[in-house]
Amino acid sequence: MEISVIAAMGMNREIGKDNDLMWHLPNDMKFFKDTTKGHHIIMGRKNYESIPLAFRPFKNRVNIVLSRDKNYDAPGCVVFDELSRALGFSREGGETEVFIIGGEQIYAWALREGFVQHIYLTHIEGEFPGAHAHFPEFDASLYSRELILEQGVDERHAFGFKTYKYTLV
Ligand SMILES: NC(=O)c1ccc[n+]([C@@H]2O[C@H](COP(=O)([O-])OP(=O)(O)OC[C@H]3O[C@@H](n4cnc5c(N)ncnc54)[C@H](OP(=O)(O)O)[C@@H]3O)[C@@H](O)[C@H]2O)c1
Repeated sequence: MEISVIAAMGMNREIGKDNDLMWHLPNDMKFFKDTTKGHHIIMGRKNYESIPLAFRPFKNRVNIVLSRDKNYDAPGCVVFDELSRALGFSREGGETEVFIIGGEQIYAWALREGFVQHIYLTHIEGEFPGAHAHFPEFDASLYSRELILEQGVDERHAFGFKTYKYTLV
């Protein structure tokens, strides 16, 4: 099973503020949905709670939430208190590529472990002051990088972005 991370960040690695995103970029959201559709997705409890009620759990995906609270209830989701248990669940379920979808604490934890094979990372061409959550620094020299999506500023996108797929070499 491949273990992947998917994220979008600003020019200062910003990923969120007040438990919310800081931009509205429909084509990045579409990329996220298309890429993760049909897969297991693993998220931190705060990320889960930041998803509007109408959209959670994400449809057509197995939603896995991480919380140290063993009694945490996330309707329609599977809850684990350790990333290793969540990964074991996905592996045993026959998953071929599991996606770690954030937030900061969960990204940091996964990248520290060194088992992330792919990072789908959207680099947004904008700065977002006051961010509370950031994408962790990682050793890019360990990864090859392929540009897979490019979006310019238009009436639906206040910021351009480039999405790269990083693959562990
Ligand atoms: N731009 C992006 O691509 C992107 C993607 C996702 C999220 N975000 C943003 O990121 C922010 C949230 O990130 P965050 O770092 O504050 O929170 P988070 O990583 O989403 O969730 C943190 C929670 O996960 C649980 N957790 C953390 N480490 C754990 C461990 N070792 N074992 C078991 N459970 C563990 C804990 O839940 P308990 O407290 O319940 O124990 C912890 O409070 C939001 O602003 C969100 O919008 C951005």
